[in-house]
Amino acid sequence: MSTTFTRGPVADIFSSYLVAVSLSAASELGILDGLREQGSYSFDAAEAGGLDRTVVRQLLATLSWAEIVEVADDKAVVGPRFDEAYAARGYFYWMVRGCGELFSVAPGVARTDDRVGDFYTRDMRAVAVGSRLIGDTHVEPHFTKLLAELDYKVICDLGCGSGQRVMAAATARPGVRGVGVDIAPAAVELAAESVAEAGLADRISIVTGDVRNLAPRELFADVDLITCVFLGHDFWPKATCVAGLRQLRAAFPAARRLLLCDVVRSERVPGPETQIFTLGFELIHALMGVYIPTRQEWYEAFAESGWEIVGESHFAAPPGGVLFELRPADGQE
Ligand SMILES: C[S@@+](CC[C@H](N)C(=O)[O-])C[C@H]1O[C@@H](n2cnc3c(N)ncnc32)[C@H](O)[C@@H]1O
Repeated sequence: MSTTFTRGPVADIFSSYLVAVSLSAASELGILDGLREQGSYSFDAAEAGGLDRTVVRQLLATLSWAEIVEVADDKAVVGPRFDEAYAARGYFYWMVRGCGELFSVAPGVARTDDRVGDFYTRDMRAVAVGSRLIGDTHVEPHFTKLLAELDYKVICDLGCGSGQRVMAAATARPGVRGVGVDIAPAAVELAAESVAEAGLADRISIVTGDVRNLAPRELFADVDLITCVFLGHDFWPKATCVAGLRQLRAAFPAARRLLLCDVVRSERVPGPETQIFTLGFELIHALMGVYIPTRQEWYEAFAESGWEIVGESHFAAPPGGVLFELRPADGQE
């Protein structure tokens, strides 16, 4: 039996998986931030902070395989790939910590007989934190610019995750109020904690709800701007998406803009040009039974649900990220 598989491309796939695991852990443990701020990370300091020295050393040794750090006896220092890995840390955290459990039970989830009820689990707090980090590089700066140009007094962020967007939008200008809606208890808890810690509880409410089926309520009555980032696909399939988007118009009668940003389905066969995130995003949604629409399919859903596109932006990161700027088709400016 040949042993060519013990080194080279296939062996590298094995090691890459462990780099992903280590990057995610180093991100959560604050090791990446420490390296970013100081340029080095001391094992003595890790131990003094309550971490197991051997585990920390091994996580960093794994990262050194990918040239993210260089490891010496008593510390690690940043390596040539550190800056790129730091910028991408949210993708790894989302994949490993947020979705890792579901990836590991893919064979069970593939059996159609078992796809009933709550057939999978994800760590929604980690999904929310990972999404925030993923949005930080390109999406969030674009939102900041767009929000500065828009006139709004009450914003509602659908699928608010960590709550960062509604907090940023509400604090960007005086007097603005905000509402965050999320279906996952872990995300609602995280967002509510963050709002309270920032002293914004008098201006921002975080509520539990399913954005596909929101009923009008007093809290929504004055919302003039709706944002919805990285969960638009949860509205699908098409019939429920059209009904859900139409229902938003009833739930938010004063809304003049809906900013919907999501990753659309890649129409390319996987190959050397495949970028970060695409395969993970499409596989995890296949495992969950969630349909990912193409850009063209979104156009059809907007047209059928009474939302008119007034702007569209494309993001380099996350790859396939699109922001649709919409207004009610029969609305007043
Ligand atoms: C990928 S995260 C994005 C979080 C946040 N919007 C951001 O940009 O960082 C998707 C969020 O949408 C929430 N979500 C998914 N389906 C939902 C639904 N039907 N109703 C409300 N929230 C939903 C999830 O719980 C999760 O917090």
